Amino acid sequence: MRSKNIRLEYISDQAKGGSADRFDGRRAVRASARDAFSRLFLCAGIWLFFALWASTGLAAEFRMDPAKVKGPEECAECHKETVKAWRLTHHSSTFKDMPRSEDARAIADKMGIKRIKSESDCLTCHFTVAMEEAAPAPIAGISCESCHGAGADWIDVHSDFGGKDVKAENETPEHKIQRLAASDAAGMIRPSNLYELAANCYSCHTVPNEKLVNVGGHAAGSKFELVRWTQGEVRHNVWYTDDNTEASLERRRMLYVMGKMLDYEYGLRGVAKATENAEYAKAMAMRAQRALAFLKKIDETVDSEQLSAIIEAGSSATLKLNNEAALIEAAGVVAEHARSFADGHDGSLLSGVDGMLPTPDKYKGEVYTPH
Ligand code: HEC
Ligand code: HEC
Ligand code: HEC
Ligand code: HEC
Repeated sequence: MRSKNIRLEYISDQAKGGSADRFDGRRAVRASARDAFSRLFLCAGIWLFFALWASTGLAAEFRMDPAKVKGPEECAECHKETVKAWRLTHHSSTFKDMPRSEDARAIADKMGIKRIKSESDCLTCHFTVAMEEAAPAPIAGISCESCHGAGADWIDVHSDFGGKDVKAENETPEHKIQRLAASDAAGMIRPSNLYELAANCYSCHTVPNEKLVNVGGHAAGSKFELVRWTQGEVRHNVWYTDDNTEASLERRRMLYVMGKMLDYEYGLRGVAKATENAEYAKAMAMRAQRALAFLKKIDETVDSEQLSAIIEAGSSATLKLNNEAALIEAAGVVAEHARSFADGHDGSLLSGVDGMLPTPDKYKGEVYTPH
């Protein structure tokens, strides 16, 4: 099992062992060269790359190993309709629009960033980075692989039903089990892996970057809610069915509860990493508090061991600065139970939340209609 509890840290760990090493290190150093203290130590050797890298938040620069990113054009070879839907989203348009916006310039200036698309940690959340001519470069906005995992190791595996001439309907049950397991093992994040899939959203939308918020003046996340935000412009249920229907009632219940669990987890992690009593820490504490209140409300109508365990985990960790160990531990417990909740439920027993589900008029952005 890959451990991705602390998503951004995991990514840096992975990159350390991977082919992105050298380049990441160079970026980390270049960006922190403003800091005279760091500069002093630069020549101290390669180990420092990692020390700095871990402490500056630049560790999070690439979410995925750029050498393993295939890009949306490769997916389009088979998933044409999905790519059409995606092109109409902010996730796609941010590639062109964000760097040109005045708001972006203002943030970048405060962060001391010249070129938004090349030297900055705006890359982490706004762009997909892949290898181009031996160097990592942004190739798209937030794209397929930002949510489903870098594709190089699974793109062939997930679509092979057992040989060239075998169609989906002729695949043997054994082959299917093996194919899905192999895809997962190769880093594919399929819709059935709800915890991982949704954790991706929260790892960007909670904006877990203190400097970006406190110094750059970037929004400290939003009131991201998983049903509203998946069922609008982001919705692309066009592969197994043609009509991009909304997720089933059972699925929406799962999305709703999973979203609150993740909001809580990321709120706790956010406060854990906060170093000053300012906008970032406050927004993260507020996020955790709100999520916990929602979880308690859900707990009144839904019978779930995992939910109770999550609520209990929270009561043992105080939302304050300098409480990293306790908060990270609580977040870990929340993550563990959220995963187990995702694996153990299909939504059929969660009718208690039906009254809380956002209605279609609240869905974020326009739903794509296939034609
Ligand atoms: C050669 C054709 C092909 C390419 C290229 C391709 N896919 Fe697929 N994809 C498929 C097929 C076939 C399925 C259906 C698999 C099944 O029925 O289990 C599928 C299913 C999926 C699913 C749903 C899996 C599930 O468990 O329901 C996702 C997500 C997905 N692909 C993402 C991608 C992404 C992202 C890319 C690009 C990195 C990509 N695919 C490239 C053919 C392809
Ligand atoms: C940790 C993730 C993250 C990082 C890093 C990040 N952003 Fe964002 N940004 C977001 C998210 C998420 C939104 C959408 C806000 C929401 O949830 O509605 C956003 C929205 C924006 C917006 C408003 C929408 C738009 O496109 O006009 C601007 C401007 C922006 N970001 C600029 C930047 C700049 C410049 C940087 C680099 C200095 C940056 N961001 C780095 C996550 C991030
Ligand atoms: C913002 C994150 C995100 C992006 C970007 C994204 N997906 Fe998805 N994808 C999801 C989620 C979430 C689901 C599951 C929705 C559900 O089960 O309700 C999904 C479901 C799917 C499915 C199954 C659809 C079905 O008919 O049931 C396929 C195939 C897929 N995605 C392929 C892609 C491809 C190809 C791209 C790029 C063009 C892409 N996705 C971009 C999040 C994303
Ligand atoms: C790699 C980071 C990243 C991931 C993963 C991600 N997002 Fe986003 N998302 C962004 C950024 C950045 C923006 C703002 C883009 C812009 O407007 O410039 C955004 C914008 C959006 C918007 C449009 C918001 C608006 O104001 O209209 C929706 C809806 C959305 N995301 C939903 C999701 C959902 C649902 C998921 C998970 C299934 C997800 N996102 C995963 C970074 C991400």
